Amino acid sequence: MIFIPPIKSQGIKTKLVEWIAESTAEIEYERWVEPFMGTGVVAFNIRAKKALLCDSNPHLIKFYQGIKEQKITSAKVREYLTKEGEKLLESEGKYYYEVRDRFNKNGDSLDFLFLSRACFNGMMRFNKKGGFNVPFCKKNHRFAPALITKIVNQVQNISQIIESGDYTFINQDFQDTLKEINSNDLVYLDPPYIDRHTDYFDSWLEEQEILLNRGLKDSKAQFLLSTWLSNKYRTNEYIFSIWQDCQIITKEHFYYVGGKEINRNAVYEAIISNLKISNSISISEMKERIINKESQLTSNNIKKVTPEQFSLNF
Ligand SMILES: C[S@@+](CC[C@H](N)C(=O)[O-])C[C@H]1O[C@@H](n2cnc3c(N)ncnc32)[C@H](O)[C@@H]1O
Repeated sequence: MIFIPPIKSQGIKTKLVEWIAESTAEIEYERWVEPFMGTGVVAFNIRAKKALLCDSNPHLIKFYQGIKEQKITSAKVREYLTKEGEKLLESEGKYYYEVRDRFNKNGDSLDFLFLSRACFNGMMRFNKKGGFNVPFCKKNHRFAPALITKIVNQVQNISQIIESGDYTFINQDFQDTLKEINSNDLVYLDPPYIDRHTDYFDSWLEEQEILLNRGLKDSKAQFLLSTWLSNKYRTNEYIFSIWQDCQIITKEHFYYVGGKEINRNAVYEAIISNLKISNSISISEMKERIINKESQLTSNNIKKVTPEQFSLNF
């Protein structure tokens, strides 16, 4: 059974959790580390005894730290959502924007949960000033009793997982997390995709991908990194440059947009690792397969680059 966290996000890896769990089952480590924890769905389902979970988004960290310190409990969540859900219904949805303004002033974690569950498509987006800016989902009776119970149970499950292990949550940039890791750690990384996000807490450029690669190499930690390998139009060339010394395993999955499966946007997900994990092949072998058309993957933008061409010049 997969535990679903109470906070939603477009980047959530619920569909990849089992794959990641299988891929890491045989690996020995003392601490599970995620520099990009997001909703935490991966870590909470791995159920590591000890974990360091970090993110540059302070609201995520504050929320889970609140659960850890029992400032946020399932009982408080039920009481809060029942009360606020009624106001939402009575105001015919206008109250959503009051909560959003309030959250953008004081950053309350329960308001964050409210917004995450009442916003359009469960998106998480922040404007240039760091303000949450997703509109209302337009369902005035959003917090019906059944949904409240579902969210309360999600909080309860996550609270039990956190309580039964040794979990540390830190709001920090990935570069600070990389400074804290060592060879006894297993690091799972799920950074934003390069050039795809321009969100306040979630922008990601080639420089950061290179710094990530270097930081991991210096740390000597074992790692697994989630990324995409290919879609209908192109292949992720960074895999064959920045990550070229690594191993890779791939899987196709579909992105869900607004609850609809859009098959035409099928994407091959990849896990890149510095470990030889079951079913993994080297990235150079993957590249050969694509170039020789022994793979279904798109090959039109794979460049024959040398490692030197990708050294960082800044
Ligand atoms: C793709 S999401 C992670 C999703 C997560 N694996 C899940 O399943 O919910 C990427 C996360 O990286 C965080 N992030 C973006 N830039 C960061 C940085 N420079 N340092 C640390 N975290 C960052 C974002 O806030 C976001 O939560």
